[in-house]
Amino acid sequence: MDISIIGSGFVGLITALGFALKGHHVVCIDIDRSKVDMINRGCPPFFQQELEDALSGQVNGGGNLRASTNYDELLHSDMTFVCVNTSSDSGVNADSHPIETSSRTIGETLRRKPGYHLVAIKSSVTPGTTEHLVIPTLQKYSGKRAGEDLGIAVTPEFLQEGCSLHGLLNPDRIIIGQHDMASGDFVQHAYNGSQSPILRTDLKTAEMIKFASNAFLATKISFINEIGNLCKKLGIDTYEVAHGMGYDPRIGRLFLNAGIGFGGSCLPRDLDALIRKSEEMGEPSTVLNAVCQTNKAQVERMIQASKRIMGGLNGKAIAVLGLAFKPDTDDIRNAPSLQVIRQLLAHGARVVVYDPKAMPKLHEEVHEGISFADSAAQAIQQSDCVLIVTEWPEFKDEDLYSGKIVIDGRRALNPEKARGVCSHYEGVCW
Ligand code: UDX
Repeated sequence: MDISIIGSGFVGLITALGFALKGHHVVCIDIDRSKVDMINRGCPPFFQQELEDALSGQVNGGGNLRASTNYDELLHSDMTFVCVNTSSDSGVNADSHPIETSSRTIGETLRRKPGYHLVAIKSSVTPGTTEHLVIPTLQKYSGKRAGEDLGIAVTPEFLQEGCSLHGLLNPDRIIIGQHDMASGDFVQHAYNGSQSPILRTDLKTAEMIKFASNAFLATKISFINEIGNLCKKLGIDTYEVAHGMGYDPRIGRLFLNAGIGFGGSCLPRDLDALIRKSEEMGEPSTVLNAVCQTNKAQVERMIQASKRIMGGLNGKAIAVLGLAFKPDTDDIRNAPSLQVIRQLLAHGARVVVYDPKAMPKLHEEVHEGISFADSAAQAIQQSDCVLIVTEWPEFKDEDLYSGKIVIDGRRALNPEKARGVCSHYEGVCW
């Protein structure tokens, strides 16, 4: 099949690579020329170790993938995946704006394509968006009719950033929300050869599956963080509690790592959007609002702990280890580190940061009063107190912290060993 993909962020590029590896011919379309050039050189525009080789294999001679800034490329494809960013900064139906713009451009382009074309939404959109916004916009500008010469589907992406190639080719499940049977068949055909379970459903159910999944993961994290906060006061190891709970297949051990809380481009965004949608529908969510509150409070707990131990933060040198919202990525969107840094600065601390991959991203935001260390060891050496915010493997050496005050937000260190080496060691929830 010939596949076009609109938007070359994480979801777009991963989707492109997945289908290229399956043997389809894929073109990524993005308005950002520098991203397009990077992809054509085989460099992912974000850090993702294992995928770099796979990408360069696909863009170099004989490969199935290329990128372009020209929407007309769409005319030579059988189907289009929409993978645009749905960041929430455009008002009430906050995530709809980029989807509306891209639907319009796709529609205008498709007006020049005779015959059938399928459009599949992969971006996370609130339930009802495809039905009430995407379809009317596409129909208006293309002159095509959904269910006739225009196929429509919603097939959300569930991969985690930093995912492996194996995960990319073998997702836990493939969800296909279809406008009509022919649209669903068309998309399923593109996924051919996959061993993953496939669920065929309607458009808004597929949209809700994505939101509910991310909201549930966020709920699991805030739940264990609350248990962890209580465990810390009771002198109980919350990680042992999570271990014991995890044996129950109804609960599972994954996403029960207590600490400073969740960040990233998806969990906070989808949670926010679902909260707004529930309010809009007159069904405000007690649980999801609490999940958000607990998550914000975890950062505050780290700051309060450092203040208590240091007797105030004014003028103190504090090292922040880890900027990325999780290891194996350089992504700092909604990262807890940003909140930590802002609060430290507000308390008058001098902040020194280190992250093996994400430092250039923080540079882009330019925070006055921050210094950038060359290594974890240098940041630690220059500080009175160390805050571990991302569990990069290179931070997991207790001996690095000899004689230091350490507050661990991610259980990066073994508490027993760390207590033997550090002048003070505690975790956010332990
Ligand atoms: C998430 C979903 O997992 C994925 O299915 C969806 O497609 C996109 O959003 P991602 O944003 O890559 O993926 O990050 P994820 O691995 O889910 O981690 C999110 C945040 O939760 C990170 O900040 C991580 O450190 C934190 N986390 C995760 C915890 O605090 N505790 C845990 O037990 C697990």
